[in-house]
Amino acid sequence: MSASLPSLVPLLREFSGGATRSAASLARDAGRSPLEVRRGVASLRELGVDLHAVRGKGYRAASPFEMLDQRTICAALAKARKPGEAAIDVSVLDEVDSTNAYLLREAAAGAPSGRAAVAEIQTAGRGRRGRTWYSVPGASLAFSMLWRFPQRLDFLAGLSLAAGVAVVRVLHRIGAREARLKWPNDIVHRHHKLAGILVETQGGQGGPSIAVVGVGINLRLPRAVRDLIDQAVADVASLAPALPGRNHLAAMFLAELARVLEQFAAGGFNALREEWAALHAYQGQAVRVHCAGNENVMGRVTGVAGDGALLVATEAGERRFYSGEISLRAA
Ligand code: BTN
Repeated sequence: MSASLPSLVPLLREFSGGATRSAASLARDAGRSPLEVRRGVASLRELGVDLHAVRGKGYRAASPFEMLDQRTICAALAKARKPGEAAIDVSVLDEVDSTNAYLLREAAAGAPSGRAAVAEIQTAGRGRRGRTWYSVPGASLAFSMLWRFPQRLDFLAGLSLAAGVAVVRVLHRIGAREARLKWPNDIVHRHHKLAGILVETQGGQGGPSIAVVGVGINLRLPRAVRDLIDQAVADVASLAPALPGRNHLAAMFLAELARVLEQFAAGGFNALREEWAALHAYQGQAVRVHCAGNENVMGRVTGVAGDGALLVATEAGERRFYSGEISLRAA
């Protein structure tokens, strides 16, 4: 979508309550033409928003959803944070290229640890390995947090794994008790991806260093979107019987992420290593590790090292992996 087009967020908001709205009434309320409204509806559908056409009446969202709201998130954050915990300064953005890119710009302008951003629409969401990350407006969460570390860059090894622990802690708390981690930093349910983490770091070898931790979570994925994604995906709504509203959820994830970042700053990944391994869906499993250079290594996962490396027992002894993709090997 081009930056010169009107934001889609006001139109999205009109559908959030679940009412059926005609193009004419939407156009009247928004001061736009019915043609512009129809184009907006088409763009929202392209982004994955599940809007049904109701014959002779207009359009309706498949299910109602909560729009992101700065005040509600801040109020929920104030309740979620414990005394003495670091401050979180969150911006709720209607639309941004990527919350990670936004916070890297904020970092360059001097923003401190705890600066965070949550976006309704990302126009250039970034995934791992240069992939694009698609989030569905109204049905996903996309947020990032900036943290500054006095340590050098190599201290941050394992940070993306640590962030996964924060996400799973919250998922378990809201009832999605079968959510697990997949090395290096996916959150899965029965090997279907629920959420992903992208950590982008900067710094010199002598320190200090900064990290922007970005998290994308599938809350309620329409079937059409699932079919478009080229990997097995799941959503939190299918696992958590009473899913809290998106603002409350955003506050819970941000508060837990800040907690884990503080823990990490004090003790590195070692402080979270055992908890991580206990949550790993592939712990003790026979796997294939697909590494750079198209090498496939077979073995059994024994754990994870203090620097975040995956430990795999192979016929040739224990091997450590710092990158790659794992998959289950048939028994
Ligand atoms: C992955 O490929 O699994 C990582 C996905 C990370 C997506 C999140 S959404 C919020 C933040 N902003 C981005 O551009 N990416 C991350």
